[in-house]
Amino acid sequence: MTDGQERAWTDLAARYVLDAPRDDAATSVRPGAAIDPREVWGRDAPLIVEIGSGQGHAIIHAAVSRPEADFLAIEVFTAGLARTMLGAERAAVENLRLVEANAPEVLEHLLPPASVDELWVFFPDPWHKNKHTKRRLVTPEFATTAAGAVRDGGTLRLATDWEQYARQMREVLDAAPEFERAFAGEWADRFDGRVLTAFERKGARAGRAIRDLSYIRQRRE
Ligand SMILES: C[S@@+](CC[C@H](N)C(=O)[O-])C[C@H]1O[C@@H](n2cnc3c(N)ncnc32)[C@H](O)[C@@H]1O
Repeated sequence: MTDGQERAWTDLAARYVLDAPRDDAATSVRPGAAIDPREVWGRDAPLIVEIGSGQGHAIIHAAVSRPEADFLAIEVFTAGLARTMLGAERAAVENLRLVEANAPEVLEHLLPPASVDELWVFFPDPWHKNKHTKRRLVTPEFATTAAGAVRDGGTLRLATDWEQYARQMREVLDAAPEFERAFAGEWADRFDGRVLTAFERKGARAGRAIRDLSYIRQRRE
């Protein structure tokens, strides 16, 4: 990390980063470690969670434009979290917290069930080589975990510039009984709450189509 990023961890982590009780691995979350969002953000407000927030561009922009909602950025990339803290400080953002942890474990153990209003997965690592596709985040197991965290009527939004991964996401979520498509055609319209990040720009410059998907969490029985 650069000196600035080291400073972010020293000076800003107490303000922005949630403490996640760990299991065995450094980015794990111990079962039973659930937070109370009302305590963390100091109010009762819609909660929007981004998985793999990178340098924080999308979530900082969203947190600034929607002060009535609370935001959680989940990331395992330490330098990215530092840049997010620096960006949040610059923008004087109060409604954003960060957690350095493996996203599925955050959904399962750190967030209370049915506590998330919107869950965002924008440009997750594509693992596009055939031998690596099994490392992808969006799988049937992920759909079940996401369904546990998102409240009834809440939204799951995804975007990717890798056609084959977009089809995998759609296949997985179409098959998940907890979710229903929130778009009519082949793909959802581009989510207008998302700013253009380097990953989206790079995909578009390489001539790849950007695919958006959105799903509604069905009512629990
Ligand atoms: C391709 S980048 C996209 C970043 C950002 N969404 C954007 O559009 O600029 C994917 C990010 O997901 C993070 N990531 C990958 N697996 C993760 C996991 N299991 N939990 C949390 N973050 C993860 C990576 O560290 C990386 O920063």
